[in-house]
Amino acid sequence: MLAEVLDVLAITPDGCYLDGTFGRGGHSAAILSRLGPAGRLIALDRDPAAIDSRQDLAADPRLERIHARFGDAGPLLAARGLAGRLQGALLDLGVSSPQLDDPERGFSFRADGPLDMRMDPSRGQPVSAWLATASEREISDCLWQYGEERRSRQIAARICREREVEPLTTTRQLATLVAAVNRGGAQRIDPATRTFQALRIFINEELEQLQRALRELTAALAVAGRLVVLSFHSLEDRIVKRFFRDLAQARETAGTGAGASRFQLVFRRSLTADDAEIARNPRARSARLRALERVA
Ligand SMILES: C[S@@+](CC[C@H](N)C(=O)[O-])C[C@H]1O[C@@H](n2cnc3c(N)ncnc32)[C@H](O)[C@@H]1O
Repeated sequence: MLAEVLDVLAITPDGCYLDGTFGRGGHSAAILSRLGPAGRLIALDRDPAAIDSRQDLAADPRLERIHARFGDAGPLLAARGLAGRLQGALLDLGVSSPQLDDPERGFSFRADGPLDMRMDPSRGQPVSAWLATASEREISDCLWQYGEERRSRQIAARICREREVEPLTTTRQLATLVAAVNRGGAQRIDPATRTFQALRIFINEELEQLQRALRELTAALAVAGRLVVLSFHSLEDRIVKRFFRDLAQARETAGTGAGASRFQLVFRRSLTADDAEIARNPRARSARLRALERVA
């Protein structure tokens, strides 16, 4: 939904923008192409491999790339004197294709690799370490809360039984274990989908990051600035929808120091991908685009 994102961001050539999810730089490159010489783009990604990609953009003086989480955007922007000065911010949530496609990152249940799933391998613990010590209750709660996995209890019990025999260290081990529990019945998706999704969201604290980023980025917007969020999961979209609605309904919000701020929804319902885009990229089927504008 690149075209829609760019339309909604309504880029002014000398404005200052933030791309909180640089990935492989597709959105950042498109934003830069609409900025003039005085424009500025701060790009964040928590994945060191992502933030170092796209060397073709490295020499562009308008772009500053920072290896950081978008939940920490507030202090990073304040340190650059950009609090209350952002004309637009973008979050394109979830994992990127390069992350999913590299078995060494441990995101994929289709390929064998270490059971890691950290977007930033330099901090936190891999899924394998957490599964080695978490209680059965913690594991089943995680699978239920973040994956809406109906067999969360059975899967958690099986994990705890099998880890007594052999540590769970690979994606293949986990996918096989989950498939054994989730046998039978017509399945629309791979039996391991929900378990892998839940563990990824949990280990990367994705929903907490999103909540922090929504607060920090709305506080950093200039008047007429927009926060645009593209989500691929109902848990994320629900958080964005409620946060935007509450802020748009509040008569006024404590501002960035420049006084109270007011916000409005840019469109009432979320935008979704059209049939042509879904045919090109099946992942777009679950994409939801929402935007909020600071009006005062
Ligand atoms: C769907 S991809 C973004 C693709 C990007 N828009 C592009 O055009 O290539 C999501 C990216 O967000 C990053 N990411 C996810 N959560 C993050 C967070 N809390 N802070 C910073 N980056 C994050 C991931 O590492 C991944 O590179």
